[in-house]
Parts: sequence; C-alpha cells; structure tokens
Amino acid sequence: MSYRSTSIKSKWVKTKWLLKNANIRKYVPYTLLFNRSNLSIMLSRYSTVYFKPTGGTGGFNINRIKKLGNGYQVQHNAKKNRYATLDALYGQLKKRAKGGSYLLQKGIQLATANGRPFDIRVMVQKSNNGVWKSTAIFTKVGMPGKVATNYHQGGDLGYFNKTLSKAGFSKTSSERKEKDLKKLGKSVGQIFDKHSSGFRELGLDVALDNKGNAWILEVNTRPQFYPLKHMKDKSMYRSIMAYAKQYGRKK
Ligand SMILES: Nc1ncnc2c1ncn2[C@@H]1O[C@H](COP(=O)(O)OP(=O)(O)O)[C@@H](O)[C@H]1O
Ligand SMILES: [Mg+2]
Repeated sequence: MSYRSTSIKSKWVKTKWLLKNANIRKYVPYTLLFNRSNLSIMLSRYSTVYFKPTGGTGGFNINRIKKLGNGYQVQHNAKKNRYATLDALYGQLKKRAKGGSYLLQKGIQLATANGRPFDIRVMVQKSNNGVWKSTAIFTKVGMPGKVATNYHQGGDLGYFNKTLSKAGFSKTSSERKEKDLKKLGKSVGQIFDKHSSGFRELGLDVALDNKGNAWILEVNTRPQFYPLKHMKDKSMYRSIMAYAKQYGRKK
C-alpha cells in the first residue's frame, strides 16, 4: 500500500508495547509465545486459550483451545477436534503452526447480541497536527459457530449502540462504554508513538466479556475500511476517509 502510515505486523511486538504501559496493561489478556512450556502454563491458568499466528490477519488460522474434563478440544472455523493429552495437543498445534510463530492468549468469553458473539473495532487516526482521535467505533458480530468475528470469517458489521442494546446494555452504559473505548483508542495511539514514528491510523480489536470489561485482543496498523462502505449509514466511512486523505490513503 502506498499511503504513509507505519505498519507493524507482529502481534507479539505490539502486545509487549501495551504491556509496558501501567494504565493499559489491565486491558491486555495474558499472552505468551507458543511453545510446549507456555502451552502448559496457559492451560493450567485458563480453561479457554486462543492460539493465533503472530503475523496473522483477517481472522485466518485462529484456533480456540478448551480444557475438557478428559483432554482438550481445538476449534478452527467450525471444526472441532479432541486430544487426550497435552502432548497430543501440543503435537497438533505444532503441526498447524507449520513452523511459524504463534501466540497463546487467554480466551475472553465474548459478550453476545441475539446469541451471536461480537467484538468491537475502535478506529483511531492522527490528524496532520499530530492529535490522535477515535474517528469511528463499530461492532463485528460473529457468524454463529465460528471462532473469529472478522468480516472475512462471515462476521457482520454492526452499529455500536444497537449491538450493545441487543447485548442488554442500557443506553447510559452503552454511551459510557463508547466514551471509555474512544479514550482507550487515543491512549493506544499515544503509546504507539513512543515506540515508533509515522503512525497515522490504528484499529483496535476490543472484546467485552460477560461482565462488560474491555480487553484489547490486538491492534491493527493496516485496518481495512472497505467493509464500512457496505453499511447503510455511510457517515463513519466518510469521516474515516476525510482523515485518511490527510496521509494519502484513498480507500
Ligand atoms: N483472546 C481471545 N479471546 C476471545 N476471542 C478472541 C481472542 N483472540 C482472538 N479472538 C477472536 O478472533 C478474532 C481474530 O483475532 P485477532 O487477534 O483480531 O486476529 P486477526 O489479525 O486475524 O484479526 C477476534 O476478532 C475475536 O473474534
Ligand atoms: Mg483482528
């Protein structure tokens, strides 16, 4: 892509930046690099663990590991497999990693809207005078039975307040959440600036758990805009594009 905004592919690098900040750390689910001993640590702490490529995107190759009474279940897309021992599980994950780097992350039980799990995208952009702003917030409502909510995995984009209302949030608490998450987006922009120069846009993937707590699943440095074009209300797309033009991004 030809426009000017720094891109960092490694989710591990970006997660470590967030963890270094005392105010933001609490929003980051516990994350470790995939290896045999970290797999054992993660599964002794959490009943659900996500296994995802360090350089992945689009919700591809996202696996959810669940501890069962007798063994482990791994789900990729809608397909579930069971492994009796930690060694069998490790062998299978190693095979799926195909030599690439993967992360293990505490699984967040996503809040649901009409029974469908969703997470949130907070779009953050920096204007020419260097000020970060959360320019859009919307939800990604996952296809039932799938592990990832991404648009590329059949997820639907939703309006923030509408989705939260379906999830049982009152108007007041939904507006409060929107404000908090936009503030979080701005803080993440400022943190990224301390580690590298040239960032103009970021897309935070934020999960809400069943208590309504926010968790940053990842920070995208090349967030996609075009799915927003398909929403009935084009105002979010327009305001994002107005900012994007300032750094030469055209679509
Ligand atoms: N720790 C997690 N807990 C719950 N769901 C997760 C977790 N990590 C990823 N997911 C689900 O998988 C999707 C894709 O994961 P993400 O880390 O955003 O990678 P990608 O770069 O492929 O979008 C998320 O939007 C979310 O629906
Ligand atoms: Mg994502």
